[in-house]
Amino acid sequence: MDRSALTDPLPGWLDAPAGWAALDPVSDRIRGVVAALPLPPGLRDALHGLWLGHPLHPALAQVPLGCWLSAAVLDLTGAPTPAVRRLTALGLAAAPPTLLAGWVDWADLPPAHRRTGLVHALGAAAATGLHAAALWARCRGHDRAGRRLALTGLGLVTAAATLGAHLTYRQGAGAAHAEAVPRVAPPGWHQVGAVDEFPRDRPVRRELGEVPVVVVRGAEGFDVLADRCTHMAGSLSDGRVEDGCVRCPLHGSRFRLADGKPVRGPATAAQPRFDTRVLSDRLEVRAVAG
Ligand code: FES
Repeated sequence: MDRSALTDPLPGWLDAPAGWAALDPVSDRIRGVVAALPLPPGLRDALHGLWLGHPLHPALAQVPLGCWLSAAVLDLTGAPTPAVRRLTALGLAAAPPTLLAGWVDWADLPPAHRRTGLVHALGAAAATGLHAAALWARCRGHDRAGRRLALTGLGLVTAAATLGAHLTYRQGAGAAHAEAVPRVAPPGWHQVGAVDEFPRDRPVRRELGEVPVVVVRGAEGFDVLADRCTHMAGSLSDGRVEDGCVRCPLHGSRFRLADGKPVRGPATAAQPRFDTRVLSDRLEVRAVAG
């Protein structure tokens, strides 16, 4: 028997929503709503996980998932109902910030990723509704109905989480897109051009082997960062220099030129930085070991 027949279908099913273009009108409308939410920029960045160095949503998602799974285990092993109710309620309390952080990340994804993310989010929202209904039923003494609703919700949230993991690990949404740069850039110093080829405060693209870099000439000298944005690989050399940062043209992340750190999301990971020196009026750059 062809063993791939046993293992291939699941990734194929998980990839399918990315091709469902019929979701786009709904997706565009929800995206507009998320973009218009009256969230101060600092709060939006906090929800992206800028302070954490990676997306906040998957970290928050552990709370409702863990609570509802624990509640199901207690329930199936005959534990007292109040403990099951408390765990279900704690999971429900954690759901709104988890969902909000997910929606904020989702709004800055490319269209195919947004389709997958939409199916993931609708599954998670429906699972939250089922757990709310389960709690309501238990509080009225309908334990058997509550158990059925909770187990259905747990199955649904597990499927949604599986799709979310596929979106992250297989399709790369939420992953840092420049982590490999220090390893694949050629070692040592490399010339990238004469000093006067670089106008002040304008990002210029150069290549170090096969690694694109963005060079910015400032008042104090040169800053060189990886060109592909850590968020979704936008080209920083097509962006702008503002207040000591380079701004990505795709979703507006800003990276400090001095150290590559993001100061505005949705990016959460630092942009790899390169050492620079000028020899005989020519700029040379060198990858900093990761
Ligand atoms: S690719 Fe999204 S902010 Fe750069």
